[in-house]
Amino acid sequence: MRTPQSDQRPRTRTAVFANSKGGVGKSTLALLTCLGLATRDTLANIELIDVDPQSTSSESLKRFANERFSVINNDRMFLASGSPNNGNIVNHIDSLPRDRGQNSFLVFDSPAGNEPERSSFLQKCNIIFVPTSVSDADVSATIKYLEALRHLFHSQRAQNSEAMQPAVVILPNMVDNRDEFNELRRIFSNEPVYFGEPLYFSRLFRKAFREEFEDNNVKRLLRINQWYVDWITNLIFNSEKLRRPSTVFHQL
Ligand SMILES: Nc1ncnc2c1ncn2[C@@H]1O[C@H](COP(=O)(O)OP(=O)(O)O)[C@@H](O)[C@H]1O
Ligand SMILES: [Mg+2]
Repeated sequence: MRTPQSDQRPRTRTAVFANSKGGVGKSTLALLTCLGLATRDTLANIELIDVDPQSTSSESLKRFANERFSVINNDRMFLASGSPNNGNIVNHIDSLPRDRGQNSFLVFDSPAGNEPERSSFLQKCNIIFVPTSVSDADVSATIKYLEALRHLFHSQRAQNSEAMQPAVVILPNMVDNRDEFNELRRIFSNEPVYFGEPLYFSRLFRKAFREEFEDNNVKRLLRINQWYVDWITNLIFNSEKLRRPSTVFHQL
């Protein structure tokens, strides 16, 4: 009998959508990603963990929940202050995969104003996706957020030099055209991050969260953004290939 190769063993991969700024697309992208993963790996166990008390993505996705897709939005993930309950979240990440024959994907949606210093669980994730638009307000909040993330990694490394470091991927969102994408890329070119493909502005996203007959809105969104969804789910599947970009900017 052949022994399974190590890369064929079921694994847990974790991705979080985060930025201290609201309205940049965290919930929208978490929703697209969960549906994309579920379509792509029809055997995998997928969990959306909504650490946003506003519950945008979990409210919308719970109608798709079934035995292999769960939507978790409960008090165990929060402290009374509204901050993430890092201890419980880390225990949860470590407890997966529960079924040894199944890959697990954990996708976190997080709220605006969620500072990295109170979110030590971020360190346990494989990829931190940081969406931003080209607007000045979003860009400056994002640059501050990246700085705060580096600070968190730095202080955790000081405690444990073996601590793994997640890959930070900027997601340019609501982009109007290629020039705007290039402008964003220039702005971030001094940051030691991965820089993702653009998600263009589309009015269809306004209807992403509502419940429509036969989920036609969601199907249309997935179809129109198929290329993007393939790209982002690929990144999660192959997250181990995202080596820490040490000190440089890296276009994906
Ligand atoms: N690529 C896009 N094109 C058009 N509208 C978008 C796009 N991405 C997100 N939106 C819209 O922007 C608003 C904020 O998105 P949301 O995902 O709720 O942000 P966040 O979770 O970061 O607060 C929503 O109305 C959403 O429909
Ligand atoms: Mg949100």
